[in-house]
Amino acid sequence: MRKQVFLLAFLLAFPFVASFAGEGMWIPMLLKYNEKEMQQMGMRITADDIYSINHSSLKDAIVLFGGGCTGEIVSDEGLLLTNHHCGYGWIQCHSSVEHDYLTDGFWAMNRGEELPCPGLTVTMMKEMRDVTEKILFNVNDDMDEAERQEKIKTNIKKLTEAFEKESGNDVEIESFFLGNEYYAIFNQVFEDVRLVGTPPSNIGKFGGDTDNWMWPRHTGDFSVFRIYVDKEGRPAKYNKDNVPYKPLKHLDISLKGAEAGDFAFVFGYPARTNEYLPAVAVDQEANRIDPVVVDLRGKVLDIYNKYQDADPKVRIQYAAKHANIGNGWKKWKGVTEGINSFKGVERKRYYEEGFYEWCLQSRSRYLYINLLRNFDTIYGKLEPYRMAYNYMTEAGLRIELIGFAGKFNRLSKITKETAQADVDKQIAGLKTAAQAFFKDYYSPIDKEVAVTMLNEYLKAQPADFRPPFLNEIEDVQDFVDELFEKSMFVSETKVNDFLDGFKVKDIRKLLKDPAFKTFKSIIDFYMESVHGQTISYNAEIDRLQRLYMKGQMEKEQEKRFYPDANFTLRVTYGKVEGFQPKDAVAYNHFTTLDGIMQKENPDVYDYVVEPRLKQLYAKKDYGRYADKDGSMHVAFTASVHTTGGNSGSPILNADGQLLGLNFDRCWEGTMSDMVYDPDICRNISVDIRYVLFIIDKFAGAGHLIDEMTIVE
Ligand code: ARG
Ligand code: ASP
Repeated sequence: MRKQVFLLAFLLAFPFVASFAGEGMWIPMLLKYNEKEMQQMGMRITADDIYSINHSSLKDAIVLFGGGCTGEIVSDEGLLLTNHHCGYGWIQCHSSVEHDYLTDGFWAMNRGEELPCPGLTVTMMKEMRDVTEKILFNVNDDMDEAERQEKIKTNIKKLTEAFEKESGNDVEIESFFLGNEYYAIFNQVFEDVRLVGTPPSNIGKFGGDTDNWMWPRHTGDFSVFRIYVDKEGRPAKYNKDNVPYKPLKHLDISLKGAEAGDFAFVFGYPARTNEYLPAVAVDQEANRIDPVVVDLRGKVLDIYNKYQDADPKVRIQYAAKHANIGNGWKKWKGVTEGINSFKGVERKRYYEEGFYEWCLQSRSRYLYINLLRNFDTIYGKLEPYRMAYNYMTEAGLRIELIGFAGKFNRLSKITKETAQADVDKQIAGLKTAAQAFFKDYYSPIDKEVAVTMLNEYLKAQPADFRPPFLNEIEDVQDFVDELFEKSMFVSETKVNDFLDGFKVKDIRKLLKDPAFKTFKSIIDFYMESVHGQTISYNAEIDRLQRLYMKGQMEKEQEKRFYPDANFTLRVTYGKVEGFQPKDAVAYNHFTTLDGIMQKENPDVYDYVVEPRLKQLYAKKDYGRYADKDGSMHVAFTASVHTTGGNSGSPILNADGQLLGLNFDRCWEGTMSDMVYDPDICRNISVDIRYVLFIIDKFAGAGHLIDEMTIVE
């Protein structure tokens, strides 16, 4: 009883549907429904200034950068800003021992020095259309699910083709509101994108993994690119004669900064959220799936740390791997904590009770009456399969040797009939892969990871959810010793010898290799015993989720719903503000260069400060980029709803001018992908004035600033 009273008090203090919250990832085309609220919060422009297909609007300055980040155009010469961590791969690909742009930074001092990045694209949305009726016209909720999906697929294909023909654009038709609505997105894809500049990692990645997902933050997380087009102004493949792109719109940049309470919005490409899950799914994710992954990754990271601390070479070799594994590890730890401390599951249950009551009130709601019970059943069935998948990827394939051997799987399918050109291509690809693999491979780490992960695998997974090789192991240490002794995949020479003289008959050698055999055991088991069930349970979940979404929208007709993120362009808005994550702790909304100096530690890789930055700090040489308080602001937080993919997105002020670049969220609120809480969830952006200060004063690349439109 006391527990219930407590929960009620909690829910009253933190209502599930807040009156105004920074919650919501809005479709730009429908922004007129939010316009009044945005203006009440302080916005001085209109929805039409943000998205229009009749005249240029802010949307013409926003792009999807590569496949996973956002970028924005800041000059009429196609100059583009995104995060350092988004440009990282391209910076790395131009780096070598002689030109170590990751360590030293890079600045093209003229157009000729800008570096092409073959393979990098940016995508710009030209237009969006509601096509729900066309896609759903011959389907209904009572029809067989497979038949329904088949019809939808055909409708999408037909309409996409028609639109592409009509417009000459790339067209994608995407599902919104979990299959209840469909929109066509018309895109233009630019293929000549060049690296213009990047700060050194000591600035662009300052704080590294230690500060990742946390506030206070001092990362200058930006890099600079430029879009090129052919002489007629059309997107084109790289050509040295291409010219800078003249956009319909580029963003103005504000030097005024933002005060606490100021309206702000983010315009970009959020990847995935799951805000309408039932309680059972949130509970499963936060309390069982995530903790297992966090635990396994934590053990791997401990091993990495031990060896990385002991040897500077290993530290560099494992830096990117560490960052990758560590990013999810830290986030999911935060998700579990956030969901539990802010009663995410209980809030969902409370909502579900109301939903069930509502279902009982009318016969016409029969469709929804069993939904929640069915969710419980199906999630219960799915759980062991999700676990099996996690152990496969996080424990089995985390052993680098096995993952690397797996890259040779296609080779094992070669026969005498395979065209020689195809064989040569595969061999060449594997040689490149081998080179990359061995450059950053340290087998003592991998061996220790193997022993630890296989023990975990055996301990946690029941025999019928383990790949067969595991059930045959008598002693893990012996198994691993033999694996590393006998497999050719630990030795670069052996792998190259194998590839150099490769003949079809050598496939036998591959099939006998213990690392390759282990890989096959894992993957075959997965395909035969896990994959099919997972697909069919997920299809059923998709169906239930579609109905649940529909039911919620029917129940709360006065509420403005927003669709989950799906990598399409969205507007999200809130206020510049700090937060109070727990009793007696209050965070300011901005950080300054003083904080960088406070964190400085020449012995700790993440906190080394560039000498030139120290000089500028000592002289307080901030020029017009200083805040009116005289200090150099570095980063700030806001209550704007963001997720992965929003990295690099512009955060804009009430006039639609650039305030900064979004790059992360605060740890306490990482649960926001499933449950958003306006009191706790904060996004983190680098202040545009710090970006300009680094470009201008630190790097001496003032010619780039001259291209921009600066509002003092
Ligand atoms: N946490 C941010 C995001 O999810 C930034 C990741 C890159 N930075 C890093 N230190 N690993 O992507
Ligand atoms: N850091 C994320 C990204 O790279 C943003 C986030 O998850 O808040 O997109």
